[in-house]
Amino acid sequence: MKSDLLLNIADYTRAAQARLAQDAFDYYEGGAQDEVTLRENTDGWTRLKLYYRVLAGVATRDLRTTVLGQPVSMPILVAPTAFHKLACPAGEIATARAAKTAGTLFILSSLSNTAMELVFAQAGTPRWFQLYVYKDREITRELVQRAEAAGAEAIVLTVDAPGLGTRERDARNSFRLPDGLAVENLAPLGKGNLPEVQGSGLAAYVRANFKSDLGFDDLDWLCRSTRLPVVVKGVCRGDDARRAAEHGAKAVVVSNHGGRQLDTAPATCDVLPHVVEAAGDLCEIYADGGIRRGSDVLKAVALGARAVLVGRPVLWGLCVGGEEGALQVLEILRRELDEAMLLCGCSKLGDIGGWLLRA
Ligand code: GLV
Repeated sequence: MKSDLLLNIADYTRAAQARLAQDAFDYYEGGAQDEVTLRENTDGWTRLKLYYRVLAGVATRDLRTTVLGQPVSMPILVAPTAFHKLACPAGEIATARAAKTAGTLFILSSLSNTAMELVFAQAGTPRWFQLYVYKDREITRELVQRAEAAGAEAIVLTVDAPGLGTRERDARNSFRLPDGLAVENLAPLGKGNLPEVQGSGLAAYVRANFKSDLGFDDLDWLCRSTRLPVVVKGVCRGDDARRAAEHGAKAVVVSNHGGRQLDTAPATCDVLPHVVEAAGDLCEIYADGGIRRGSDVLKAVALGARAVLVGRPVLWGLCVGGEEGALQVLEILRRELDEAMLLCGCSKLGDIGGWLLRA
């Protein structure tokens, strides 16, 4: 058996682990506290079973869709994740270029190792900017204005991180950025470095800088302050999703931050149907967390998601093969989704529905 074949996301995960420094791997891979939610996210998709339809006469599959009106080649989007230069020297530019080649959305994290102006210049469209709200409103305003000027087409407001969930792996490793790497978007604003502390440098950075009393008034402020559509990411309840839409969000992401914030929060597959029911008439709904197979994407769409976001798998691809590796990961997921659609009897995303999850 050739063991070096990289056929799936699990293969990429193992290959990335073998290449990465332990503290960097732990930072990307780890979750909060006992990592219950981290595990449940992936297990949840596996638990759902597909009651496929036969003799459906499916010859070709069309995976295309739109997100906030912008076309994408498949319902698999690149999630915002921090610090891509831990994975490869080209960092976020490589990720953005991979998403562009795959014809899908790239979302740049506030906490990138490359300045947004440089990344967005290399990215295709759509390209969105993920925002953390800083205690200093002027810093937040400046980030939004720069994102608009740099070509971002939406702002993705992360709402599940008024503080950082305790990632015990990072605390044990005293996680920090290696010399030469910084939080580049924030460097001109004097917030480019993680503090040198005992424990997680990121946790200390978040404590010092992120607005801990984040509220719906902040969402209102953001919607007033930008001409771009606002997406609210990190929702775990139907009532919050509806309220976010009523306060101006054009989309919500059902997400528990990849199991990195509140441990024992429910798996996103368990939350998604409630959010779709509560807010599906008001805004677009995406989901992330634990997507490791194309069939997981199909299940999310069956539960009512318009698209999914993938984070860690893209980082593993980036680590193993830079831009090409990240692209390969996206293409594996595309191929697997296509196969799942064929075997379920669906020729387009609109054919996928709740009927697939019960006989
Ligand atoms: C950053 O967004 C993180 O969750 O580590």
